[in-house]
Amino acid sequence: MLGARGGWRALRRCASLPRAVRLRVREALRAREPADAVMVQGWVRSVRSQKEVLFLHINDGSSLESLQVVADPSLEKRDLTFGSAVEVQGKLVKSPHRMQNMELQAETIRVVGPCDIWSFPLKMKERHPLEYVRQFPHLRCRNNTLGALLRIRSEATAGIHSFFQDNGYVHIHTPIITSNDCEGAGELFQIEVKAKDSAEKTHFFNVPAFLTVSGQLHLEVMAGAFTHVFTFGPTFRAENSQSRRHLAEFYMVEAELSFTESLQDIMQVMEDLVKTVTSTVLSKCPRDVELFHKYIAPAQKGRLEQILKHKFMIISYSEAVEILKQAPQTFTFKPEWGCDLQTEHEKYLVKHCGEVPVFVINYPYNLKPFYMRDNEDGPQHTVAAVDLLVPGVGELCGGSLREERLPFLESRLQRLGLTNTYQWYLDLRKFGSVPHGGFGMGFERYLQYVLGVDNIKDVIPFPRFSHSCLL
Ligand code: 4AD
Repeated sequence: MLGARGGWRALRRCASLPRAVRLRVREALRAREPADAVMVQGWVRSVRSQKEVLFLHINDGSSLESLQVVADPSLEKRDLTFGSAVEVQGKLVKSPHRMQNMELQAETIRVVGPCDIWSFPLKMKERHPLEYVRQFPHLRCRNNTLGALLRIRSEATAGIHSFFQDNGYVHIHTPIITSNDCEGAGELFQIEVKAKDSAEKTHFFNVPAFLTVSGQLHLEVMAGAFTHVFTFGPTFRAENSQSRRHLAEFYMVEAELSFTESLQDIMQVMEDLVKTVTSTVLSKCPRDVELFHKYIAPAQKGRLEQILKHKFMIISYSEAVEILKQAPQTFTFKPEWGCDLQTEHEKYLVKHCGEVPVFVINYPYNLKPFYMRDNEDGPQHTVAAVDLLVPGVGELCGGSLREERLPFLESRLQRLGLTNTYQWYLDLRKFGSVPHGGFGMGFERYLQYVLGVDNIKDVIPFPRFSHSCLL
């Protein structure tokens, strides 16, 4: 009996060919026993025709490795080319090659969908650079690197959900359409109905509505009834940036914890999340990760191993500015207390701390959004904010304790002229307010960090950024 890991439950009888068992490539490669009537479907990654034998490699997205098919040359057809979609039926046998466990001896090969190889932009056996395949968002998933990325993305997503569920968090679907600007930075995409009648002046929702920049404020609502909540969904920022770490649409993981008075608690969750999900990804898709660490970022593997072993560092914003001021290099943006840390500053700080992740805490009050908790600490007035900086990427997470004290929040909102907009948020501080805090982690930046990918556009299936919305 064929003993694919996961057993016979993983196998399906094929409706069109009653006696053939349909296997995914991954199942076929991992099978422990030969099997007589097997069918595999997928796309041809290579074709090599010799006098005595025809070799194919088929991939169906279930694994990085393709399944070798061995066939009689009489089965070769004109449209059996690289890129074509095929269905192969035959015997699964032990492979004589050391590098693979099983191979398929084809009895029939059906070309389900031919591929015009002359105009197909991917070429057989070529290692296309990421910048090249980026031009073809509708085809690049057929490339090994993007295939590996998408499987890693899928496992990391599952790992993030498991991390929170295992730690007792409730998953909340926060809305994509919202009437607030959580970060107050004005980087909003406004939503309007496509005008049928240009005389139509009223808003669909009666108020201006936007794509969310963060689910935080909605999570804070829920943190008034559930002590641990999280959300993980798309967020949108109209940042006019072409940088290698900004997108207009990206995924954010956000958590909110009630009954917490210390940034330390928030930082502990961030650190545990990053380490646990990274370990999960490394153990669930070792071959896919290896591809990145071998061809895209050769030093990344060792760096990650180091990071998983050591505690992340903590420095205050004021210490960070002092370190920058004493740096032997000149920065484009001169470091000054009260100014935002720029990418060049973040990079230097991470290097200064020994290329390990660093939490920077307690930022100037005037730099940060209205919801952050006032530290009431004299002339260098700060809030209980934290950013996590990581090697190669810079800011990975941003979080804070939230201002839970009604008078503090009221006076800040009043000064910003936002009291009416945030009446409901003030209400939360009137009805059982508790000290609480949370953070958001950019999912694409997380993937950049783990895989060592330089450009954020290469870690999301369909990148959206200013001047580009392909497909
Ligand atoms: O630091 P940010 O702006 O924090 C918030 O939005 C908070 N409301 C989150 C919270 O406390 N619940 O964004 C969080 C993270 C950043 O650290 C960064 O990793 C990522 O989101 N991020 C982006 N990723 C890709 N493209 C962009 N344009 C991004 N802007 C932020």
